[in-house]
Formats: sequence, structure tokens, C-alpha cells
Amino acid sequence: MGAEARMEGKTMAKIAWGITGAGHFLRESLEVAAALPDVEYFASEAGMEVLKIYGVTPPTPPRIDRSASTLACRAFSAGAYDLLVIAPATSNSVAKFVYGISDTMITTLFAQAGKCRVPIVVLPTDVEEVIDTMGATKPMRLYARPVDLENMEKLKKFRGVKVVTTPAELSAAIAEALSR
Ligand SMILES: Cc1cc2nc3c(=O)[nH]c(=O)nc-3n(C[C@H](O)[C@H](O)[C@H](O)COP(=O)(O)O)c2cc1C
Repeated sequence: MGAEARMEGKTMAKIAWGITGAGHFLRESLEVAAALPDVEYFASEAGMEVLKIYGVTPPTPPRIDRSASTLACRAFSAGAYDLLVIAPATSNSVAKFVYGISDTMITTLFAQAGKCRVPIVVLPTDVEEVIDTMGATKPMRLYARPVDLENMEKLKKFRGVKVVTTPAELSAAIAEALSR
């Protein structure tokens, strides 16, 4: 738990969980989240659409911040969250993380968490060349592009960011981050 949060007398670690517009790892990510005690969900516009298409609902309704500046990001500097998880993370959002673009709610939360030294865990969808996934209605095979795999490798080099490639790793990385 972060020092500021401790000073405010909080006893439980609070997680901000970003959902981007990805079907791959969506159900698995939310299963991991549902097992955790104090999670606040944020979804990109595409995230809200894909949740609907997949017929999946997070345990509590996700916040969508349509303000130009992402007012929700102020909570990171106020010490409200101990960890930011982005799972699943689209190749679009991962590319923006890597190149420092923060023009959506999720990319701004990523940037601000980084600037506030709040640890971040990311589960990208494009983690291997061949992606076998359960689509909204049927199984699908997709092929990650080299640019998406390269971006994941670049993200792994970010300070304070843990990139994971499976839901099991996601669970373990969250437990590790919260134990510090
Ligand atoms: C049903 C559906 C599933 C999708 N799944 C993925 C996915 O697994 N990975 C991905 O990179 N993009 C996926 N997309 C495309 C993204 O939603 C799209 O690139 C969007 O612009 C991402 O915006 P965001 O990164 O702000 O959430 C999917 C789109 C749809 C309609």
C-alpha cells in the first residue's frame, strides 16, 4: 500500500482497473478482478462497447470519464489507489502507452499513475504471434502484428510497469505488487 494511502489511514489496498476495448482475455481478466476486495473499474469507450458485445459485466459498473482532461486521474496524485491494472489492454492502448500518448481516459490513467509512481500491471492482448481466443460467440484465431509485439517489448522496459502475458501471471503480479 502506498505511503500516502497509509497516512490517510486506509487499511485495504485499492486498485484502479482499466478495461480497454478487447475481447481477448476479457472474461479471464474480470475473473481475476472479481476475486479481489477493493477494485474500482474504468472503461474506455471501446471497452464499454466490447463489454456489451461479450455480454460481460464487471462486479461494479465501470466509470467512464468523458472530460477532456480525464478528471479521474487526479485521484492518483491524491494517493487514492495503490495499483493500476490494465487488463485486457488493446494493441491500440499499448501503442499509446509506449509512445507517451494520453488522449483517452485509460491512456491518461496510465500516464498519470506513472508520473505519481503508482505501480502498474498490464495484460496486453497481443502477446504472441498466434492468438487463439474465444470471440463473443465463437472461437477465433488472430495473428499479432510485429508492431504490436514490438510495442509489448518496449512496454516491458518501462519503470514501474509489469507486463504479464497470461491471466495466471496477472493474478500473481497483482499479489506481488500489493505485498510491497
Ligand atoms: C468485439 C471486439 C473485440 C475486440 N478485441 C480486441 C482485442 O482483443 N485486442 C485489440 O487490440 N483490439 C480489439 N478490438 C479493437 C479495439 O476495440 C479498437 O482498436 C479500439 O479502438 C480500442 O480502443 P481503446 O484502446 O481506447 O480501448 C476489438 C473490437 C471489437 C469490436
